[in-house]
Order: sequence, then C-alpha cells, then structure tokens
Amino acid sequence: MSIPQTNFSPPFNITRASHLVLTARDLAKSRAFYTEVIGLMVSDEDADTIHLRGVEERCHHSLTLKRTSGAPTCERLGFRVFTDEDLDKAKRYFDRQGIAAAWAEVPFQGRTLHVCDSVGTPLEFCARMKTQPRTQTRVHTHRGAGALRMDHYQVLAPDVPAAAKFYTDLGFRVSDFICVDGVERLVGVFMYRKNNPHDMVFLARSGPRYHHCGYMVQEFHHMVRACDVAGNLGFGEAIEHGPGRHGLGHSYYTYLRDPDGHRTELLLPAVQMIDIDEEPVRHGVRPNVNTNLWGLPAPRSWVEETTPFAGVEITGQGTDSARMTLESWLAARQPVERSGEPAMAGPGQKPA
Ligand SMILES: [Fe+2]
Repeated sequence: MSIPQTNFSPPFNITRASHLVLTARDLAKSRAFYTEVIGLMVSDEDADTIHLRGVEERCHHSLTLKRTSGAPTCERLGFRVFTDEDLDKAKRYFDRQGIAAAWAEVPFQGRTLHVCDSVGTPLEFCARMKTQPRTQTRVHTHRGAGALRMDHYQVLAPDVPAAAKFYTDLGFRVSDFICVDGVERLVGVFMYRKNNPHDMVFLARSGPRYHHCGYMVQEFHHMVRACDVAGNLGFGEAIEHGPGRHGLGHSYYTYLRDPDGHRTELLLPAVQMIDIDEEPVRHGVRPNVNTNLWGLPAPRSWVEETTPFAGVEITGQGTDSARMTLESWLAARQPVERSGEPAMAGPGQKPA
C-alpha cells in the first residue's frame, strides 16, 4: 500500500507543533485543571483569556484558553516556522496552490498566517512569540504533572491519505502508518517535523475533529501524580484512559479530559527520529483487537468523543464499529467469567 511521499525540499520550513487555542465555559475551573493537574504555568491572563505554557517552554504560550458562552471548540492548531521569511514563503506557496491564507493579529505572537489544511483543520503559522523564563529548575513551583512542553496533535478526518499529503508536501515525514489488514486501507498516519514520531496524527473517522494534544512529562510518576491531584481536586473522573503503553511503542500515556471535555495526553519522551534511514513503519490492525501492548482498551468515549473545530463542517463516516472499546472488551469477557472458566486475554489477543 502506498502512502504519501515526503517532500524533502519543502516550500517553507515548519519546525514543530507548538500551540493551540481552545474555548472554555468556566475559565476558573479550566485554569485549576491546567495549572494544578497538568501543571502548566500561566504566562498572562485577563477576564476572558488565559495563556499557558509548560515548565520547560520559553515560548509565551502553548495553550490559549478563551472564554465562551457557547459550545466549547478548538479554534486553531498552531505550528512554528523557523524564520519570518518562511512565513512569506508559506503565503506565496498557499497562494500558488489556491489555498486561502490570511494574515492575522494574535496577541504575544509575531506575524501569524491562518490557513486550513486539505481536510479543513484550521491552522496557524508563526515564527516569533514573546518569550518567558523557563521554569524547569524551579521545581518548588511545579504543580500536578509539571508538564514540560507541547508535543503533538491528533485529529480525526475521513480521508487520511488526503490529510497526509497536505503535510508530506510541506516536509512532514511519516513515522508510522496504520492500515486494516486484508483491505490495506490507510486508517492512521503519524507525521513529524521535529525529532520524534509525532507532530500531527490523523486517524480515520468523521471529521475534521480535534481529538487531543500531547504534553511531555519528565517521569512516569508525574502521570501518576497528575491522577492523584485530579482525584483530590474533584477532577478524578477526568482521567479517561491509562496510564498504559501505546502499541506503536512510542511512549507511555495517560489521557485526561478538561472541564469542557477537551482531551490532553500526558506522555513520556518518545523515541528519537532524525536519521534519513528512518523509514515509515506499517502497523496492520485487525477488527476487535486491543492495540495496546498492555493495559485496557480505550473506552468508547476516547474512540467517539471529540472537540469540534470552530465553524468547520464535519463530514464522513463515524466510528468504525469494528473498533474495540473497553466496553466491548468487557462485554465479550462476561460470558466466560460466568461459566466459571475465566480467561485472560493478553495484548493483541481477542478475549476468549
Ligand atoms: Fe497522542
């Protein structure tokens, strides 16, 4: 099965996934979640907006929360380009491609270019942002998971090959791709510009819909500490999935939902990917198989529930009914347990 090929001479230089904008109905509650549980630092705030960053981040913000009275949304996913000149190159590139791109004024950021990708995901690019002191050595100020830095986004979209081509044309490399065994249909792609397997991930379902962003933490116990703090502060039910180990082997994970349902993944530093001989790795999946190396399958909420992008139409098919969920896995086990012959299903095995 062919996957989109990387353009190793891209039209402009994107360096990484860097910042996003979410809306929130109760800013005080969201502030408590992101500062006390995730452990982000507040860079600036007013009555309607909070800018947050990880303890290792020098950039002013990797997450902006905006007050809303409506349904919560993801307004935009941000990427850094290396220089201001790259922004001009980007504008010329999108103009040549017939893709609408517009300059925007964004607080604390340099020139910013707004555009949508090939499946409608609203993006922005900037080269500059106000800087703040890193606080990674000021350990006494760290809270919750003490999240280090923004790492990646995951988006759901019906046409994964079309989504992937937009990014591989811009120089993104594919670390891993997922296809359904037998039919060789591309249902997932992991793409990167920095030195690990993921800046942008797409999975095949109706969309575009925002699934999660990932923040790095330093040690496994930082994920556990986030769970403990969440439990103590009334956010216990925010822990949706994990801790566990991803089947693709990139890292450990824990997924949490903020008060508006926006999902954040905490993960440990993933494998390094730099060399030219890092070829895309194929992962074949079969229906109703737990793809985690260990740990329970993802709950139905993780599979189905997402955040809409503001003002963006959702198209395509919904959840793949063959996708194993925690609920379907448990349902499949129950008859076995009642028979008095319990059988444990190992990773990659369907429960008996
Ligand atoms: Fe992730």
